[in-house]
Amino acid sequence: MTTSGFIGSGDIGSTVARLAVAVGHDVVLSHSRGPECLADVVDDLGLQARAATASEAARDGDVVVTIPLCNYLQVPTEELRGKIVIHTMNYYPQRDANIGQLDDESTTSSALLQVHLPDSKVVKAFNNIFFAHLAALPRITGAEDRSALAIAGDDHDAKKVVSEFLDEIGYDTVDLGPLWQGWCTQPDTAAYGVMYALNPQAWGQGARPTSAVAVAQRAATSRRLRDLPAGAIDGGDHAPQIS
Ligand SMILES: NC(=O)c1ccc[n+]([C@@H]2O[C@H](COP(=O)([O-])OP(=O)(O)OC[C@H]3O[C@@H](n4cnc5c(N)ncnc54)[C@H](OP(=O)(O)O)[C@@H]3O)[C@@H](O)[C@H]2O)c1
Repeated sequence: MTTSGFIGSGDIGSTVARLAVAVGHDVVLSHSRGPECLADVVDDLGLQARAATASEAARDGDVVVTIPLCNYLQVPTEELRGKIVIHTMNYYPQRDANIGQLDDESTTSSALLQVHLPDSKVVKAFNNIFFAHLAALPRITGAEDRSALAIAGDDHDAKKVVSEFLDEIGYDTVDLGPLWQGWCTQPDTAAYGVMYALNPQAWGQGARPTSAVAVAQRAATSRRLRDLPAGAIDGGDHAPQIS
């Protein structure tokens, strides 16, 4: 990934964009309003950033979709054909309104996006880290206190690209397995956000480095607590892969 398009440039979008710019990437930011409303953010990020419409951002490079889940059907489809789409979105009924298939757990937020983007390679990432922790925890490759982020996706090559991107911006990767396994870092699971917080009761009070082993353990705890079939807990392809 050298140019990253952002559909959504709020807390998470602008934080990932800042990390990407810091390692020399160009970024194209968009949101739900006209590009001119992003002038302050783009000025702050510097010459490697520009603002565009969501369709234009979708055309430029691989793409990070980081908007409220309730708006996922507004994500452009044609422009994203064949592309890697990193998705950060969580389901919050109080914000997104109730989505029956998520309430009855017959699908996942990632699967909904993948159905909307059948020709894209969706990879879930960044969904379980508070944006301020994401901004605070990048470290150089090999640093003792380097943190890891979880990813999930069905396309091996796409996950490799995302993992390389994470490495560039300062993080190790824990591969949770297929896209549907992304549920184990969703809100209300053991692997959601809290592990990166210095104070689990007040996430605003600072970030705590969290190793790949710790992330993998938390994800395994999520699975155990949901009492999934044995094969889905630790077995075969579904065992978290650390890199
Ligand atoms: N905040 C976190 O720490 C965090 C952490 C992990 C995951 N997440 C998840 O990541 C997603 C983004 O969270 P956030 O906190 O960054 O949200 P946010 O600060 O509210 O920003 C949302 C962004 O999405 C844009 N947007 C909304 N609808 C859009 C559409 N149809 N097309 C293009 N852009 C659209 C908004 O643009 P306008 O301003 O023009 O409406 C805004 O730039 C959410 O699903 C959230 O659950 C958040």
